[in-house]
Amino acid sequence: MARILVTGGAGYIGSHTCKALHGAGHTPIVIDNLSNGHRDAVRWGPLEEGDITDIDRLRDVFRTHQPDAVIHFAGLIEVSHSVADPQAFHRNNVAGTSALLDVMAETKVAKIVFSSTAAVYGTPATVPIPEDAPTRPVNPYGETKLAVEQMLAAAAGQNSLNYVALRYFNAAGADPDGSLGERHDPETHLMPLVLQVALGQRAEIQVFGNDYPTPDGTAVRDYVHVCDLADAHIAALDYLMQHPEPLVANLGTGTGYSVREIIAACRTITGHPIPHRDAPRRSGDPAQLVAEPGRARDMLGWTTRQSDLETIIRSAWAWHQNQTTN
Ligand SMILES: NC(=O)c1ccc[n+]([C@@H]2O[C@H](COP(=O)([O-])OP(=O)(O)OC[C@H]3O[C@@H](n4cnc5c(N)ncnc54)[C@H](O)[C@@H]3O)[C@@H](O)[C@H]2O)c1
Repeated sequence: MARILVTGGAGYIGSHTCKALHGAGHTPIVIDNLSNGHRDAVRWGPLEEGDITDIDRLRDVFRTHQPDAVIHFAGLIEVSHSVADPQAFHRNNVAGTSALLDVMAETKVAKIVFSSTAAVYGTPATVPIPEDAPTRPVNPYGETKLAVEQMLAAAAGQNSLNYVALRYFNAAGADPDGSLGERHDPETHLMPLVLQVALGQRAEIQVFGNDYPTPDGTAVRDYVHVCDLADAHIAALDYLMQHPEPLVANLGTGTGYSVREIIAACRTITGHPIPHRDAPRRSGDPAQLVAEPGRARDMLGWTTRQSDLETIIRSAWAWHQNQTTN
């Protein structure tokens, strides 16, 4: 049983992972600046309010809690924000990780699981995308995540660190007990936006691009349940306990759904009409992002258990409905 420092543990994927860590007998210690996270989502261990770009604050937290390993979610996540302010992303995601790795080296904490992303692939030449596909990000967000992967590889090459970089595809869904879910502000992810339309909180959902080379012309993505992602982090920690080599692995299902298919499934499950409006493509949005998930299965023993589309949408819908009644 280990003490795990969870950066960004007050956020969406981080909070679900803290619950899973607790369930696996570990103690999650969260550091989060609450810029996009929620104090009330930190329930399974202490919250240290702080910013990972503040190296002295990091040193305090490491000294106080003496973690055995780190899971690193903290970062800015919104692609259009990264296009508008790339420097903020480099400061937060790259310089913040650099400070974190410095303190890990100082304190001899040598194991880290990093939240990477399918955005490192940019516009893929083929789908499903294997991990050895070329990495050519098409926005600053993806560039910062790739820069961190390279920083981790360099540190591992000097034998000062071992890591697992998990390239998530589209996280979605909510904890089945209804206590946690997706709460980004502003919200930019498709599934919560569609469900907000179902709840009458938005008038319509905009569909960006209807002329992609996909069966119905809208963009195709690989949706993976946030609780399955959380489980992959437990498996990644186990991997780091047993293997000296780093690992980079996709986390997705291998099945893609178009924007229109997601809206149609949400209409069926919620019973609401969910008006939509077609809009131009957004720059930097590839037609299809679908994972080749074999490596996570083979190396981590990870398989998805809740990532069928109906379970994802039903869990997210329960969470969103619950938010309006609380
Ligand atoms: N949501 C997805 O579909 C998705 C897909 C691929 C990768 N990711 C990556 O997974 C990670 C978690 O994503 P999420 O959806 O849970 O995002 P989130 O915004 O809900 O969580 C990120 C957390 O990090 C905190 N944070 C940001 N900058 C910080 C800093 N400098 N110091 C301390 N805390 C800081 C925020 O307050 C927030 O609680 C991110 O690194 C993201 O890039 C997410």
